[in-house]
Amino acid sequence: MTTSRTAIIVLAAGLGTRMKSRLAKVLHPLAGRPMIAHLMSTVEGMDPQDACVVVGDFMDPVSGAVSPFPTAVQSKRLGTAHAVLAARDSIGDFDGDVLVLYGDTPLITRDTLDAMLDARHGDPDPAVVVLGFTPDDPAAYGRLIVGADGGLDAIVEARDATDGQLEVALCNSGVMAIDGKVLWSLLERVGNDNARGEFYLTDIIELARADGRACAVVEGDPDELIGINSRIELAQAEAILQDRMRFQAMENGVTMSDPTTVFLGFDTRLGEDVSIGPNVFFGPGSSVGEGATINAFCHIEGASILPRASIGPFARLRPGTTVSEGARVGNFVEVKNAMLEPGARVSHLTYIGDAHIGAGANIGAGTVTCNYDGYSKSKTIIGKGAFIGSNTALVAPVTIGDGACVGAGSTVARDVDSDALALTRARHQQIDGWAKGNRERKTAKKAGKNK
Ligand code: UD1
Ligand code: MG
Repeated sequence: MTTSRTAIIVLAAGLGTRMKSRLAKVLHPLAGRPMIAHLMSTVEGMDPQDACVVVGDFMDPVSGAVSPFPTAVQSKRLGTAHAVLAARDSIGDFDGDVLVLYGDTPLITRDTLDAMLDARHGDPDPAVVVLGFTPDDPAAYGRLIVGADGGLDAIVEARDATDGQLEVALCNSGVMAIDGKVLWSLLERVGNDNARGEFYLTDIIELARADGRACAVVEGDPDELIGINSRIELAQAEAILQDRMRFQAMENGVTMSDPTTVFLGFDTRLGEDVSIGPNVFFGPGSSVGEGATINAFCHIEGASILPRASIGPFARLRPGTTVSEGARVGNFVEVKNAMLEPGARVSHLTYIGDAHIGAGANIGAGTVTCNYDGYSKSKTIIGKGAFIGSNTALVAPVTIGDGACVGAGSTVARDVDSDALALTRARHQQIDGWAKGNRERKTAKKAGKNK
């Protein structure tokens, strides 16, 4: 389907009062990015000839989120037809197809939009193609009134509908594909004589019919068409999107032992034969290479996990982390802004921050890279094949040479040469029999007191 003759208008001027939030509704995140960014990436994928997002006053953050797409401002919210008209200067006279999308209906897919454009060019040359759906609860949606010939005759808003019309199950998702040649002339004639006193976009159906043009319905999947007006609907949309992404990942060769507990970021990349245990969270900017294993209860964000690496259980990987091929990050380990070269192992109870760990190095349990002095961050470099004993504090900036050993319990604030042993713990002392003598003295003293 060519979209070179398509312009796309996204309506996003609504206040979203039901979200009860300081954040504009369309900026609430799904899978780690604003809901409208999901929609805009679908728009971008269609490569339309023109596009414009309609926002309200004081919605600069929304304009920022949709950039580089231009925005038009609808200062007064006088209804959906009025909102589309706000994009008139931006789109201008356009004789291709105009798609109208809603910023709060972000899960719509390219396939569905292509099907609408196909219908726009099918018989009987409909002026408007409306995306209909049959929700479980039609409640407040506009009802699609279909004629005997299967064409669309009108859309009636629930508030303006008769009892008979409210029985109709087929509802308006809001999404439309409109013949650009008649769009502005239809919109100019929309009035506001209705229950809400608004200029309804839905009125263009009856206006087009009166002009002798046909209108058509394409039916879509309710899961794609969920409109987000409240936090509850936000959570429902998140669940639908997560299901969609997990399904795709499994199709691509990822094993998930309990998929519903794996939370993916919008851009999480998972290779073939990746295995993911239960209760794993991926924030934005993460990738996992072929054959890597993510064990249960890991929190991963902005991290690159290379093939055959092993993570967790209970590991936290923060932004800037790379775990190379065959390297291992074990339980209760936090890693931030650090490179683990191939085969490096950080198996237990450790913090690695602002560090470079050489190939095959072994970092003992309880190691801490002391990367922050209260003012600035410094780097720890550990050479290949080095061995860091348990419960070691590495005070950065510090370099441990290749093949060096650091004895357990050390605090290392100076560089250690390659192949050397560094020990900073106190020397071991032993006084034979001291404990026994102490026990006897203390017991005798206590017995004397109790007499
Ligand atoms: C609209 C449809 C209804 C459909 C429903 C689907 C109309 C008249 N009704 O109703 O048939 O079933 O969507 O969810 O079109 N907006 C603006 N400026 C405005 C008004 C709205 O930008 O002045 C934007 C909103 O931000 C939102 C979209 O348009 O993205 C829909 O507006 P909303 O008020 O939610 O319309 P509904 O009453 O839900
Ligand atoms: Mg709505």
